[in-house]
Amino acid sequence: MIFRLGDFRFPDSAARLYPDTPERPWVLEVGFGDGRFWPHHAATFPEAPNYLGVEISGTSLLKAHRRLKDAGLHNAILTKMPADVLVREVVPHAGLDLIVVNFPDPWPKAGHTDHRLLRAPFFRLAASRLKPGGALLLTTDHDEYFQFALDEAQASGVMQATPGGPPAAALETKYALKWRDLGLGAHHARFTPTLTLHAPVPHGDAQPYPEEPHAVPHAILTLPPTFAPTDFEKYTRRSERGAQWTVVLLDLYGRLRGGGWVALAHVVEGELTQEVLIGITLREDGSTLVRLAKFGGPIITAGVKATVGVVTEWLEGQGATVTHRGY
Ligand SMILES: C[S@@+](CC[C@H](N)C(=O)[O-])C[C@H]1O[C@@H](n2cnc3c(N)ncnc32)[C@H](O)[C@@H]1O
Repeated sequence: MIFRLGDFRFPDSAARLYPDTPERPWVLEVGFGDGRFWPHHAATFPEAPNYLGVEISGTSLLKAHRRLKDAGLHNAILTKMPADVLVREVVPHAGLDLIVVNFPDPWPKAGHTDHRLLRAPFFRLAASRLKPGGALLLTTDHDEYFQFALDEAQASGVMQATPGGPPAAALETKYALKWRDLGLGAHHARFTPTLTLHAPVPHGDAQPYPEEPHAVPHAILTLPPTFAPTDFEKYTRRSERGAQWTVVLLDLYGRLRGGGWVALAHVVEGELTQEVLIGITLREDGSTLVRLAKFGGPIITAGVKATVGVVTEWLEGQGATVTHRGY
């Protein structure tokens, strides 16, 4: 099953995601590529564990979805987003039995190591999402990244590494076969949380799109009688304290039905980016409602609330008078 970000809860639970098999172990695979690992690995268990797979490539998502469906793996959820966002916002504390990372992108160029997944902050996050006795398994062909991950795990202060042999299924992935054909081997390590007590890494502030209309981020305002935008200049706002969010208003579209406009915005909060639509709707009482649209399955974050504020602010700049701010 494919889940969009807005289909999850923040945090979510195995009981909600796998209602038929909540008691089974829970495995997360990061960067599953074309999905070859899981059918092989799941077959080594008497009953397939619950599976959550995260990828940033949409093409891989579709290929893996077909493969898991053909393998009859019904308790498997695939999603397209950066792994960091899923683990931070969706995975509950002490929720997972296993995190699997096979052949992560090595980002080999000098100055690009910040793009690597397995840095100390991710190890801290992973440690706080693993159950006691849980582990993160890394298999990679890349000598330098392997040593880098061992060093970062140690620097995290919460993970210890035990190098060893990879699970057989990790040597059946697309990249494993590619490196094997070139005569290259693979490194493997099992990272387990240390017994030292450490504070769990908190979840963010994400919320699902609310059921109740009044809880959706919105504003009410009165537009000047002359308001009829013929031009819209793309513009950017950043949060003032630190760089928590950046909102780029990209465009404004006139609605053919019902009157009003729709603003398209790009919202960036760390690894999380969302494209959202903000409706600007003319109401019968003469007021105008500015509200986050449900289209596209947005989740509510500080940046998304701020986007409603940025659109409202832009309308104020065009002469609107705000009577209510609900964001
Ligand atoms: C080198 S490929 C390995 C794919 C697969 N594991 C295999 O062994 O064939 C790395 C994969 O990680 C995915 N990826 C990279 N960064 C990611 C991130 N932050 N979150 C989720 N997936 C990511 C890439 O899209 C790519 O499919």
